[in-house]
Amino acid sequence: VTLGHGDTVLLADFVAPETAAFRGVALITHGTLAHKDMELIEALQENLAYVGIASLAHTISANVSERRGIYDCAVPMTHMPGDAAKEVVAWGKWLKAEGHDTIALIGHGRGARAQASAARTLEPVVAMAMLAPMTTQGERRERALYAERFGIDIETSVARAAAADDKATPISVPGLFFCKDIEARPETIHAYFAGDPIGTETLMPAISSPVLVIAAGADDFSEDVAEAFRDSGAADIRTIESADHLFSDFFADDATEIVSDFLASVVPGEGIADPDYGEYLAQECSSCHVAGGSGGVPPIDGIAPGYFRLAMEEYVTKFRDNAAMENVARSLGEGELAALAAWFAKQQHAE
Ligand code: HEC
Repeated sequence: VTLGHGDTVLLADFVAPETAAFRGVALITHGTLAHKDMELIEALQENLAYVGIASLAHTISANVSERRGIYDCAVPMTHMPGDAAKEVVAWGKWLKAEGHDTIALIGHGRGARAQASAARTLEPVVAMAMLAPMTTQGERRERALYAERFGIDIETSVARAAAADDKATPISVPGLFFCKDIEARPETIHAYFAGDPIGTETLMPAISSPVLVIAAGADDFSEDVAEAFRDSGAADIRTIESADHLFSDFFADDATEIVSDFLASVVPGEGIADPDYGEYLAQECSSCHVAGGSGGVPPIDGIAPGYFRLAMEEYVTKFRDNAAMENVARSLGEGELAALAAWFAKQQHAE
């Protein structure tokens, strides 16, 4: 998918599940100067589709039309930190115009930060998942490592940027982000690296939807994700031990599984509702529930999804006292309940 955005053309991939189940769409934003085709994001899209969730993954242009792949360090950097959030908003509006009004956000690294800034403009956002978000300490650490990577202190580069007469004409710097010997606009350097570093956790008060935070246990960018978000109001904080910042290899699957479970649990009744899966699970129920009901076991074909979900909840909480059904209800996860609800709702009412 392409989208005109000022003078720039933005790129994204839209992946729809075979059975459209989750009524919403996950909008996925990558981290600093990465791209939509990186391993983690492709795994996310694939796995989300597998569990019935549509997704749109976009590449942040960094002012480069139809940018593909990792940022080309030969191109002078002209983008500003706030630009990424504007592109998130542009894609969110595009999704709404396409008729998707239930949007969840999934961001990796600084992509989570861009999404956090965009979330309010995109309301209602049903949920957010942040994977290895950059914390204040992570930002500070990156500045400290600058000298090690590029041979001068970050303050020296910031001071050179501040001294430039024309803030919009790129100057040479020994490095920026992962690029060595690069040209960049003084205003770009200044906006990213002057003043106090602002981690993603500080933006949490502005977010009204439930937030899932996934920390990578072996993240060498943000090492303190779980601590930084502890009192942030996040609905859930998970750590995937041994995962690196990019959730390489199998860790992408682990992360995706946590994300899809979370999305299914915070969007009641709109979870992973694949009726075919429901039919498969319903075999377990047919030993007692038969069409028309029998011997004290009520019929459940044609049952309304809302009533079904409530009934199951009431067995778990013992508001309805039935040991057999309590066991059944307790054994079912969110995705299974949604699939069963979708299946039984489709069946004919018994006479
Ligand atoms: C061991 C037998 C048994 C099995 C297996 C069983 N149920 Fe039940 N179910 C019952 C009985 C008995 C009741 C009525 C309990 C009561 O009085 O509340 C019931 C009630 C229900 C109700 C409430 C219906 C209403 O009209 O209020 C729902 C919904 C339900 N079952 C769903 C399921 C689903 C879904 C499965 C399979 C995943 C399942 N049951 C498997 C025995 C069973």
